[in-house]
Amino acid sequence: MKLSDKIIFGGDYNPEQWRETPEIWDEDMRLMRLAHWNEATLGVFSFAELEPEEGVFDFSVPDAIFEKAEQNGVKIILSTPSGAMPRWMAEKYPEILRTLDDRRKAVYGRRENHCLTSPVYREKVAEIDRKLSERYGKNPALLAWHISNEFNGECHCPLCRAAFCDFLEKKYGTVDRLNAAWWTRFWSHRANAFSEIEPPSPIGETCVHGLTLDWKRFVTAQTADFARAEIEAVRAFSDRPVTTNLMGFYQGLDYRELSKPFDFVSWDNYPVWGKPEGDEGTAAWTALTHDLMRSMKRENFLLMESTPSHTNWKDVNKLYRPGMMRLASLQALAHGSESVQYFQWRKSRGSSEKMHGAVVDHYGKEDTRVFGEVAALGEELEKLAPIVGSTPRPRVALLYDWDNVWALQDLQGMQKKNKQVGGALLRQYLPFWRAGISCDVIGRRESYEGYSLLVAPMTYLCEAETAKRLAAFVREGGTLVATYALAQTDENDLCHLGGFPGAGLSEVFGLRAEELDTLYPEERVKISALGESYLAKDYCEILKPEADTEILGVYESEFYAGTPCLTSHAYGKGRAYYIAFRDADGAFSGAFYRRLAGELGLESPLPEIPAGVSVQVRENEKGEAFLFVLNFSREERRVPLGREMTLLKNGEALSELVLPPYGGEVLRA
Ligand code: GLA
Ligand code: ZN
Repeated sequence: MKLSDKIIFGGDYNPEQWRETPEIWDEDMRLMRLAHWNEATLGVFSFAELEPEEGVFDFSVPDAIFEKAEQNGVKIILSTPSGAMPRWMAEKYPEILRTLDDRRKAVYGRRENHCLTSPVYREKVAEIDRKLSERYGKNPALLAWHISNEFNGECHCPLCRAAFCDFLEKKYGTVDRLNAAWWTRFWSHRANAFSEIEPPSPIGETCVHGLTLDWKRFVTAQTADFARAEIEAVRAFSDRPVTTNLMGFYQGLDYRELSKPFDFVSWDNYPVWGKPEGDEGTAAWTALTHDLMRSMKRENFLLMESTPSHTNWKDVNKLYRPGMMRLASLQALAHGSESVQYFQWRKSRGSSEKMHGAVVDHYGKEDTRVFGEVAALGEELEKLAPIVGSTPRPRVALLYDWDNVWALQDLQGMQKKNKQVGGALLRQYLPFWRAGISCDVIGRRESYEGYSLLVAPMTYLCEAETAKRLAAFVREGGTLVATYALAQTDENDLCHLGGFPGAGLSEVFGLRAEELDTLYPEERVKISALGESYLAKDYCEILKPEADTEILGVYESEFYAGTPCLTSHAYGKGRAYYIAFRDADGAFSGAFYRRLAGELGLESPLPEIPAGVSVQVRENEKGEAFLFVLNFSREERRVPLGREMTLLKNGEALSELVLPPYGGEVLRA
């Protein structure tokens, strides 16, 4: 992924909102130069501007902006307008409006609310996309295509239902196979024909887990299919790369599937900085999300949106403290972003986003705190350009799969409402993040090549094929760590028979997990592991180890006191560790992974990393390494470097870095 020699610096730009005052466009260009912007994302939600009436097209705004942008050294990422349909279109072709899961038909309004199947909407979108491609597809200012905006949601109209039935027929071939995969003898839910299948609904079916899982897979497939049709249309006259803006851990779509038709991944990041309890939790979660996004294609990505100062849609929309926007931007780069982009360039005058943070305020001039911070960052990023093309090179991968999360959410059992799969993932990730050891976050069905350690938190849904590949990874010398609730069901969410972890993984871990105890949120179970005492919460599995399984920890309370809670098992040339409980406060995970990292030779890039400081490394093909040292604490931090390094922005040599609160620097190692 290489779009530019520069770090891309820009963001969402909506000049169509200022159509009546084009002098503002010229002022925008003057201000963009001052802000060191080199990119503008144009056209998001501009359908009604481009096609104000059916068959009447108006490209005057993008025409003017492309020209001005080129004169001012600003590249364009051009969005297709499908994220918001024009009013006339909904009026004339109501089939394009969504039907909600309770089967109410939506009326016109809001955005990203079209039917995913409607042939009319697809044709209208393809038509405008082709026209954009023809007009701008070869323009030297065009950097990339941005398809739609934050695809999300689902539609339950008859067209989507019919498409779902087709999807199932293709998948299962015969309805008997579907009945078997969905276990429909339960509660007499057997189907006689694919056409009888009704998508899940709060006023209908929610209990057939094969159905709910396949429905979510279908929604992803249908969204990706919609995206493919758009990609085909913009490719009619253009070979520029295509992306769409993802939303991190958004649960509605399997992003690993959705990102397949795109050339590169980009995403929109709006963390909650400035929480009363401090920023470390937010920093770690954001780091993990960047890693997830980078892992989609195991390639760098764009930070398509972030706010320069504050959001408007959260419960509390606190201002970013001075330095925080820069720090958060450096963090994105540290994890593999090739850009810093904002929503939005200029605050709109009306509607729901008028008070959302922007580079240019309603005040309109450059002498504001936010504009000053943005411009200073823009200038600094020009000096950091040598990082372009370098990337983190992890030897650790954590497994995370959307269908696994969906299956766990549907599961009636454990703590029913919130299984906290994300929390479990973060728990395993934190020790690596604190040590500056970078991680990928991959899907269980992807390649494990190049990793020496795989971590599988709550990998409940695990089909035979994955189990085989995990076993092979260990047999050939890899280290695998898994937690409670491993491999209980297959790809259809049917329970494995013969004991958990299923599909042969019992042999790899040298144990059987016989029962899983769920605790009330305030309860704790004592454990002793690796020579120390710790606390477990939420889940404690009761294990039956094999004779050759090493017991590294045992429960100290409850009726299972004295039984193992942490095990290690040699398998082939590798080793498989099993953590049977949820660590209550992170103390156990910290100690466990520190020890494991030591054994596996996974080294921290610095001799000592103070609390609240994150260190990430990007390397390039020439063997150059860039160290990002970021202070998310609200106090000054002194970071010993262990040897001499230079600040990338000015070449100054240092052996210790002194970072102010929310300070951060990029070093050439
Ligand atoms: C999303 C959207 C933008 C805007 C921002 C506000 O990321 O893509 O259009 O609404 O949120 O934070
Ligand atoms: Zn529909």
